[in-house]
Amino acid sequence: PTTLELPDFSLVVLIGATGSGKSTFASRWFAPTEVISSDRCRGLVCDDENDQSISADAFDLVRTIAEKRLKNRRLAVIDATNVRASERRDWIALARRWHALPVAIVIDPGLDICIERNKLRPDRAFGPKVPQRMVQEIRKGLRNLAHEGFRQVWKLSSVEAVDAAIVTRKP
Ligand code: CTP
Ligand code: MG
Repeated sequence: PTTLELPDFSLVVLIGATGSGKSTFASRWFAPTEVISSDRCRGLVCDDENDQSISADAFDLVRTIAEKRLKNRRLAVIDATNVRASERRDWIALARRWHALPVAIVIDPGLDICIERNKLRPDRAFGPKVPQRMVQEIRKGLRNLAHEGFRQVWKLSSVEAVDAAIVTRKP
């Protein structure tokens, strides 16, 4: 199993399609206060965690919370799909501004799993096209993550790898 040894002061960027298990992974390995979820922020601004039309407001909130945490030298986890390089660029810049280590954790248990899991979620009423596009986009950008500025890149590329992974911290 992979042991993800993260520096105490990291900005952790989860990368994974809808249904890949990001939020589940985050709640297993990080404190609730460390995890900043774009869906949760959607809910905070408009009572609907699935309303994509208010994404800009939700992400403003994610960015503000993340920045406040980094300013206070607290680890933060960005729980969003973070599919595109353009979405990840902001997080790298934010980490650099506060001298936190930008860490990427790619959660890719496979497209079929993402589709199957979303079928069981009443709040994720879209077809397989959505996760399919996300998985493709993520895989296309994988090799470039270090070049984007991530100082640690962890790839968990099967259900087993995600389940077995262990997260530790070092000062
Ligand atoms: N799930 C599961 N077993 C796992 C991981 C997740 O059964 N090892 C289930 C969760 O209970 C949830 C669904 O799969 O119902 C999706 O997991 P979640 O962690 O919510 O996925 P996310 O990547 O956070 O999806 P989204 O981007 O849509 O928030
Ligand atoms: Mg989630």
